[in-house]
Amino acid sequence: MAKINEQELKIPTHLAIILDGNGRWAQKRGLVRMMGHKAGAKALKYIVNYAFSLGIKVLSVYCFSTENWKRDKEEVDYLFTLPVEYFSKYQDRLIANGTRVMFSGDISKLPTKTMLSCDSIALNTKECKSNILNICLNYGAKDELVRATKLIASKVLNNEMSIEEIDESTIEKHLYTKDLPPVDLLIRTSNEKRISNFLLWQISYAELYFTKTHWPAFTKKELDKAILDYSKRDRRFGGVKK
Ligand code: IPE
Ligand code: IPE
Ligand code: MG
Repeated sequence: MAKINEQELKIPTHLAIILDGNGRWAQKRGLVRMMGHKAGAKALKYIVNYAFSLGIKVLSVYCFSTENWKRDKEEVDYLFTLPVEYFSKYQDRLIANGTRVMFSGDISKLPTKTMLSCDSIALNTKECKSNILNICLNYGAKDELVRATKLIASKVLNNEMSIEEIDESTIEKHLYTKDLPPVDLLIRTSNEKRISNFLLWQISYAELYFTKTHWPAFTKKELDKAILDYSKRDRRFGGVKK
């Protein structure tokens, strides 16, 4: 990140990205939507590497939402071939870089081959300690909160905890992201200014950054721009600056 004055640079600990605009990127080029997803996977490879090289500790990426099942079967089927390809190509590099891969979302509902490939990369990287790639697949924040509520309710019913004991940390411990710090910076590409059911609890104090760039065209330079913008934000968390 050469052009940025190191002094004023603040690197987010946890960066989350809503990778949007693959379809529109393809459409603009007269290609089928699937080609946009393919290009999007390539962009992800570069950004994962770059983000960790900057010192980001956790990168959460929204790759398939609980609402994305509404799409044509052909597109959904294609999307689920991408993790298999990605992990078989990059597992060695992820391990060499000390990246632990984890998943948020119900991966048991994915095609068997995809689910097995997700299980395998999570297992093979579980001892990696430098940084975490949190891949959100079949993820929805509302679904995550319903799941957490059920888990907590069953503990109360089994007398493992009382209702009085439930606090914010109880809810946090029952989310997919239980071991992760809160999101510092959330980026959404492709000019949509909405959250689309992503990490609603975890972004409660995140800084938001929107860019017009479609995800497949998102470059290291774009990430530099977002981080520079983030560095200038005054995060008060409800307090007053002295
Ligand atoms: C993001 O790109 C990838 C997924 C949601 C799976 P889109 O497929 O949503 O692309 P647009 O928004 O239609 O352009
Ligand atoms: C959000 O993008 C989900 C992912 C990026 C995986 P969508 O393209 O599905 O969101 P909407 O439909 O524009 O809200
Ligand atoms: Mg979209």
